[in-house]
Amino acid sequence: MNKQELYQKLIDTFFEYDGAKKDFLAYKNEQELKEILDLWDTSREWNQDWEDVFWYLQKYFQYCAKTDHPQFLNRMWTGANTPSVLWEMATVLTNVSACTYESAPVSTLMEKYMVSEMLKIVWFENGEWQMTTGSSNANMIAMMAARNSRQKSIKQQGVFGCRALFAFVNQESHYSLDKAANILGIGTDNLIKVPTDRFGAMDIRILGELLEEYSQKWEVFFVAATAGTTVRGAYDPISEIIKLRNKYGFWLHVDGAWWGPVFLSPVLRERFLSGIEEAESFCFDFHKMPGTALICNMLLINNKKWMLSSTCGVGNTDYIFKDHGDEIHSEDDGDLGVMSLQCGRRVESLKLFLDWKYYWAAWFAKKIEHYYQLCEYAENYIKKSPELQMMFPRVSFNLCFVYQHDNLKKQNILNEAIREKLYRESKSLVWSATIQGRYFLRLLICNEDITTTDIDQFFQNVIEAKNEIDI
Ligand SMILES: Cc1ncc(COP(=O)(O)O)c(C=O)c1O
Repeated sequence: MNKQELYQKLIDTFFEYDGAKKDFLAYKNEQELKEILDLWDTSREWNQDWEDVFWYLQKYFQYCAKTDHPQFLNRMWTGANTPSVLWEMATVLTNVSACTYESAPVSTLMEKYMVSEMLKIVWFENGEWQMTTGSSNANMIAMMAARNSRQKSIKQQGVFGCRALFAFVNQESHYSLDKAANILGIGTDNLIKVPTDRFGAMDIRILGELLEEYSQKWEVFFVAATAGTTVRGAYDPISEIIKLRNKYGFWLHVDGAWWGPVFLSPVLRERFLSGIEEAESFCFDFHKMPGTALICNMLLINNKKWMLSSTCGVGNTDYIFKDHGDEIHSEDDGDLGVMSLQCGRRVESLKLFLDWKYYWAAWFAKKIEHYYQLCEYAENYIKKSPELQMMFPRVSFNLCFVYQHDNLKKQNILNEAIREKLYRESKSLVWSATIQGRYFLRLLICNEDITTTDIDQFFQNVIEAKNEIDI
């Protein structure tokens, strides 16, 4: 097959897959799938036979989770926006690394354009940015910039001999912040988990008391507010934390991986992100709620030009970059790799650029507001249903609920069994979590094709599954 025939066959396979989607998954357990895929079959090795390649491809499509299915309610992302899918293909076909202007001239400019758009909308002035491999990484880079700006010698001399550094986060913050504390030599014991109020946001009074206590003896260098906690969807009170920042002088980072993009909707920004423009840094995933193809993340730094390049830039990079780690930079340097922790950088800007140009900000705002309305609808369904119960009050988008049972232990087992049954029967896939010994289901709505009928169907699936479980 020549290249043209190959691409044509690939497109035919895509359409075949797209037309065949009925359930979100053709469930097989690991053993069954192993046998079907027969990955250890040596007869398919070294053949250089395209038929074998397409056989694997078809199997992949057949058994992967169809994340754009309206009953795939399990993750913070679903099927991606079509413009971003097209450009993701272009990214793969052109196969370049976005570390130097020389090798990636168009994507470098598109990335700079996209970032200038985001800095403007978030109202960060004189800012810097990094498109990273996700919010986990963005959280770590933000913590690293905060650490290096607090202890100027740390880049050269390490943490040895420094006064102990302490960071503060919501006790329900994402585990990537623990990883960051581990990687950066802060130590996970020095990442203080602040208890939450009953809505799952950091208790601001307790945070104030902890800051007062720790700042007497140690360096309080970093507070990460979460804009949409992973499990409950709680928003830490940014404006209140800013008052504390003004008193104690830490770096305020906002982890908006999940619902940070509410900044695109003026109404929701006012409700959930008030004060964001005064934070030191802010990260969010365009691949989650906004629906750009995975991975698409941005870390924005406020009012601190060259912070990222001086934080991340080290070592001899003469062989690759025009400009180097600690030296003075100019706007036109072009090489985005200088600010990055990686050398090779996947081109993530193309898909974001095209999504943005195709839909524009107002469309994203409407989409998020629509999700919000659907969450209200789902909450009302739960409240009206005699069988179901909200586990926590809904603060924003996450819906944590259970099928009720008068015995807590049995309730946990029952809800776990319902989730598993729905998954194995390929009816619905919903996420779950456990807080304080209580297991519950967590419904996430971030698929633009979902309607109220799909939400009704999901709850009916839950109730029907219970009727077939004897607990
Ligand atoms: C609040 C929060 N922060 C960070 C992350 C990590 O994001 P990523 O998957 O882009 O690394 C997540 C992921 O779910 C999250 O919910």
